[in-house]
Amino acid sequence: MSESPVRIHRLYRHFQELPVSMRTLFTGTLLAIGMGYMFALIYVYASDAGKDGNPALTVEDIVISYRGSSEGTQLEAALRGPMSAMLPADNSQAIMGWIKDGAGKAVYESLIEPIVAKNCLDCHDGSNPHLSNLDGFDNIKTVIEQDTGTDLYTLVRVSHIHLFGVTFIFFIMGFIFSHAYVRPIWFKSLVVFTPFICIAADVSSWYFTKLFAPFAWVVLIAGGLMGLCFALMWVVSMYQMWFYKPPEFVKGTDTL
Ligand code: HEC
Repeated sequence: MSESPVRIHRLYRHFQELPVSMRTLFTGTLLAIGMGYMFALIYVYASDAGKDGNPALTVEDIVISYRGSSEGTQLEAALRGPMSAMLPADNSQAIMGWIKDGAGKAVYESLIEPIVAKNCLDCHDGSNPHLSNLDGFDNIKTVIEQDTGTDLYTLVRVSHIHLFGVTFIFFIMGFIFSHAYVRPIWFKSLVVFTPFICIAADVSSWYFTKLFAPFAWVVLIAGGLMGLCFALMWVVSMYQMWFYKPPEFVKGTDTL
């Protein structure tokens, strides 16, 4: 065998040297994992996009998810938005003013309760499980809590699920991709390694966003980079597995 123009590690095996059964296993895995990634994207859009009024996924959406909205409470948002037609403007002003002044019980009983009873309870009396119950002081309290974003307990729970889950995905992905022929080596290694940096940066930025809103950019960029690496590894692996003819010197490294 003639000297190869680039160094190939003796343990390296290109996809085309692997048995068909193994390539089939890899292909099935890529298909399922690719579908999983699609659903993850749909989920992110469904849960986060549009919170700021813009249907795309923006930095502001991420800030609202993790840090909370600066637009005030759920009730204020509803009165400014979808519920604005449900009551006269001066009544709406009265409710807004009451919230600003601390939402005390005395003012509630004298001023707010009649407005709510007249304009809101037809729908929000608790009989519809999809609408918040606005009947009574204690129920109203739940829609005038300041929105502080996802709470720490939930973040910790999602963090460990994410760190374990994403590590599995990118271990499998990187392992399959390691059989591709990609040069330069540093680039191939970078594509394999970047998702792990991204997941660490992503998860820690959820917490930092609570303290300092611009960290939402890190969440967005890390998520984007991770997706880019995923797509690259997926496409290159699939293509080289079935369609690509690697240069001769890439094969048969065990005879070197
Ligand atoms: C005709 C029925 C109806 C009336 C009357 C009504 N709402 Fe609603 N409200 C809805 C529906 C339906 C939604 C959910 C859909 C949406 O957000 O557009 C909703 C959503 C809300 C929300 C968001 C949280 C949630 O429950 O989903 C708040 C807060 C709210 N309404 C407050 C009020 C207040 C305050 C009034 C009285 C001024 C009022 N609503 C009157 C039907 C009503």
